Amino acid sequence: MQLTFIPYDLARGLHIISFTAWMAALLMLPRLMAYQTGAEPGGELDKKMRVAIASLRGIIMTPALLATWVFGLYLLVAYSGAMATSFWLATKLALVVLLTIMHGWLIANAKKIGRGARPHSERFWRRVNEIPFVIAIAVILLATTEPNLPI
Ligand code: HEM
Repeated sequence: MQLTFIPYDLARGLHIISFTAWMAALLMLPRLMAYQTGAEPGGELDKKMRVAIASLRGIIMTPALLATWVFGLYLLVAYSGAMATSFWLATKLALVVLLTIMHGWLIANAKKIGRGARPHSERFWRRVNEIPFVIAIAVILLATTEPNLPI
């Protein structure tokens, strides 16, 4: 079956749009969780943050995660050829799996905070905010420079 029904550059563009939205949501969620952690459970700000987090998750974060994987795997299956076994792609995918685990962990904690728990401090969530960005820098540089092991 001919798999290249989406032209390469269009699939690459859709992949870039998807991961940009996903990264933006991964950077926003910990910040909203920090605000909600500082708010009185059941109070005005707590309710506002609950709505903001639910919209971020449902409208952007989870659809963007799925689209990034779908277009990434499509590029891998339809156009990757020998690249599929390359060092850079294996390392990149390991980091992306880490981002995906972090996605799930953040959502699990956002649900706890939504139920009134305060599993971590405001300062903790502000610190966590930086992690997805650092990982994304490594992923993007791996994908654009495509380094290979000097063997
Ligand atoms: C979710 C699983 C992912 C898979 C399976 C995947 C797979 C791929 C593949 C096969 C390519 C094409 C490489 C080429 O043809 O040169 C690609 C390109 C790229 N990916 Fe991903 N990727 C994933 C997630 C991500 C994420 C999360 C980011 C950023 C944070 C990212 C950033 C990039 C960039 C910057 C390119 C290069 C685009 C270009 O050459 O213009 N990818 N990806």
